[in-house]
Amino acid sequence: MNILEPQSFSGIIHVDHPGATDQAYRARREAIAAEAKAFRAGEQDFPIIGYTREDHETWNAVSDELQQLHRKHACKAYKKAVKKLPIPTSRPPQMKDVSDYLHQTNNFRLYPIEGLVDARTFLRMFKKRIMLCTQFIRHHSRPEFTPEPDMIHELWGHAPMFTDESLVRVLEKLGHAAEVLPDEYMDKLATFYWFTFEYGLVEEGDNVKAFGAGPLAGLHDMKRAMNTGADLRPFKTEEVIESFTDYAAEQPYFFVIPSFEWLEDEIDRILSKWTTQLST
Ligand SMILES: [Fe+2]
Repeated sequence: MNILEPQSFSGIIHVDHPGATDQAYRARREAIAAEAKAFRAGEQDFPIIGYTREDHETWNAVSDELQQLHRKHACKAYKKAVKKLPIPTSRPPQMKDVSDYLHQTNNFRLYPIEGLVDARTFLRMFKKRIMLCTQFIRHHSRPEFTPEPDMIHELWGHAPMFTDESLVRVLEKLGHAAEVLPDEYMDKLATFYWFTFEYGLVEEGDNVKAFGAGPLAGLHDMKRAMNTGADLRPFKTEEVIESFTDYAAEQPYFFVIPSFEWLEDEIDRILSKWTTQLST
């Protein structure tokens, strides 16, 4: 098995990273990354990670606070799904258990990855109903912040939404598109993904709720999205895909979709429009 060889893996801890000077943390990250790589090369089973006391404390502290926010601000589908997933607040779960649950439930899987990869590599995995996920936990010195997706983001933010079949169908369409679209369309596709699965909000009656992993797993992001006076905009796809995204900065505005069913129709519409553009 050689599922994936990322072309542009960037799992490097930069000098301004909260764990940059913590040699034990860096060594742990490297060990977790090595296992992810070996798994994808077919050299070992799904990695089972031995999390440290600091990891436990970080997971527990962030999870407790996130749960309070979810009660108020998460969308209905999230609240229903998260109860069934094997994600405890008291300790970091094994990603394998969550992946196995998703696989049994709706044939979706999580695969370990060392860190960020380029948009095409990441998105095209959705074609196979797989999401690439990191298994490390953010540095304990800043539990409220992570400069890159960590397991808190992946499991509290993304995993519950993979039980919603209409959203998974949207992901599959993104995956198929990432496989074939020329480079000049990849930024648009990645931006569509960014403002939905990463930062998306959805209308529920007169309220706006979170379904994107950024607010669902980010203490700051959720508070900013749900603050009175937050910059919330209707999801107009042609505007969304041209919006500026700074992956490392706080998201200054959010787009709100009417429903998941609407999103499914919308991805069909925009992909069909691009296909027509490419064929003329
Ligand atoms: Fe994410």
